[in-house]
Amino acid sequence: MSGESVAIAITGASGALYATRTLAALLTRGVHVELVISDYGRRLLRDELGDEAAMENLVPYLAARYGAAVGDGTIALHSNRDLGATIASGSHRCSGMAIVPCSMKTLAGVAHGLSRSLVERAADVMLKERRRLVIVPRETPMSLPQLRNMVLCAEAGAMILPAMPAFYQHPKTIDDLASFLAGKILNALGFEQRLFEPWKGGE
Ligand SMILES: Cc1cc2nc3c(=O)[nH]c(=O)nc-3n(C[C@H](O)[C@H](O)[C@H](O)COP(=O)(O)O)c2cc1C
Repeated sequence: MSGESVAIAITGASGALYATRTLAALLTRGVHVELVISDYGRRLLRDELGDEAAMENLVPYLAARYGAAVGDGTIALHSNRDLGATIASGSHRCSGMAIVPCSMKTLAGVAHGLSRSLVERAADVMLKERRRLVIVPRETPMSLPQLRNMVLCAEAGAMILPAMPAFYQHPKTIDDLASFLAGKILNALGFEQRLFEPWKGGE
């Protein structure tokens, strides 16, 4: 174990693979993950990755897909309804949080400090404690309220890291696309990563 601890929230936007790739990369580094999954986040895990990725099977799924080294880290799973969970308090020493993927609904809740669920409350804690909050929104096209909510979050100190994989890496598989985004998320949370080759410049 690395002794580092971060929160990961999975909400009901498309892109469950981004969440599993990010989780696996953190766990493989020996990070402790405080994990919270919204009801629609659970649904998206099953809809997009199959029953074997359902929340109750998530750890074996990660090991089967990404390798046994995910066992180097640990997960504490919280109910999204538990506003008394550790990460609902600023006294918990989580260094940062990523909401991946982040629905427009959760984005709105964070933008307006609503704290209706554990995901929203933990994100609010990150902002008030001036810790890293990485929001990975996914929607297209976007309405003006959705765009404004991203601006509100950015103004409050969050990093908006849209689910927009790049193609200059010449990805061959969907996993390559997910690895690129997960690498960006790890960097934004303050971790070194080798999930993709950094751009080296050129003509
Ligand atoms: C299959 C499916 C795909 C969805 N994709 C998105 C999406 O990409 N972006 C988004 O903002 N909402 C999406 N939604 C809608 C959200 O899941 C819905 O607004 C939900 O209330 C979000 O709640 P949560 O943020 O608590 O997870 C999707 C819903 C379903 C069922």
